[in-house]
Amino acid sequence: MSLPASLYSSRLRWDLAPNRLTRLLDERRSAGAALLDLTESNPTAAGFAYPSHQILAALADPRALSYQPAAAGMPSARAAVSKDYYSGRVDPGRILLTASTSEAYAFVFKLLADPGDEVLVPRPSYPLFDFLAALEAVRVVQYPLVYHSAWSIDFDALAGSITPRSRAIVLVNPNNPTGSFLKQSELGPLIALAREHNLALISDEVFSDYGLHPDQPLVHSLTAVTDVLTFCLSGLSKVAALPQLKLGWIVTGGPARECEQAFQRLELIADTYLSVGAPVQLAAPVLLGLRTRLQDQILARVRANRAFLASQLGPRSPWRLLETEGGWYAILEAPRIQSEEEWVLSLLANDGVLVQPGFFFDFEREAFLVLSLLTPEDVFHEGVRRILARAPLT
Ligand SMILES: Cc1ncc(COP(=O)(O)O)c(C=O)c1O
Repeated sequence: MSLPASLYSSRLRWDLAPNRLTRLLDERRSAGAALLDLTESNPTAAGFAYPSHQILAALADPRALSYQPAAAGMPSARAAVSKDYYSGRVDPGRILLTASTSEAYAFVFKLLADPGDEVLVPRPSYPLFDFLAALEAVRVVQYPLVYHSAWSIDFDALAGSITPRSRAIVLVNPNNPTGSFLKQSELGPLIALAREHNLALISDEVFSDYGLHPDQPLVHSLTAVTDVLTFCLSGLSKVAALPQLKLGWIVTGGPARECEQAFQRLELIADTYLSVGAPVQLAAPVLLGLRTRLQDQILARVRANRAFLASQLGPRSPWRLLETEGGWYAILEAPRIQSEEEWVLSLLANDGVLVQPGFFFDFEREAFLVLSLLTPEDVFHEGVRRILARAPLT
């Protein structure tokens, strides 16, 4: 007798069991333990001063009471992204609005890939790729970033992972959690590779305003690429620290004809869902105008927390802080006296400090701890002191 077919698709592995860290965290929380959370990535929960009245007033535009669907987004909101975010360098005709950057990925994957096709994604990087791709029945193939006092793309490995089913190279610029930007010297080889293999480039630029070294030769955006079909993704969630308002976008670029064809197809996909709400689109000019107020606070916090962490590590420290060029995270290499998982579990159980293990981001080897630099400074300082005390100077 054959087994009954599952009710559920096999797009995801549907592994709903919590991992050891989540189980321990639930236990600690239900026991009422005071925790120092060094993983906070939600800017609205990190103690920043939001101009609340202006945000709420912008969302109360009476025009939101009428429904005027537009597949690529309201012309006024697309114009605002063009003018207020890209300073007019990107034509609004190339901008398509989405409810989030995650949805932007889903649209671009639907556009480019058939079930079973592949997208190349960096490693280490953002863990949501596995889900975003799997939900579109697309396979993720990782290419390595290598660290030699800065992170860079391993081009040989990238070229070696291309197959006839590859459709796109994804880069996260700057990457999460390594904070590494694409180097100017990497842009040419990347475009050449994409051209040679007829691949699109997908550039996730959500953190690109959070660079720490404006004078370094880094590529902040791929919106000006004209040689290959390119999709640059971003949104209010990081740009204006407003993830709850749900507004993202895709900038399509590349050779004029391909760009136009891709845009028309994206519009058809977006028209199927019409997922972006009217209030946030009408508020877009105001929200984008307010972004530097949030970005300045975030950058100040990120810099201060990073400087504090660096100041705690002398030349004889068994810990190592990896270099970065931007983003919201610090990567701390822990002494290999125990595994990454043991580090994270013991810090939580014994010290009440919550950090993320490198394996959440698929680091090639152990032991790395990922710390959110958005963490309020007092919590960050105490958390760092407790972590470092677990392996003091030898
Ligand atoms: C690199 C990266 N891309 C995309 C996203 C998702 O952004 P959104 O909230 O716009 O879906 C995140 C969220 O943390 C991220 O870290």
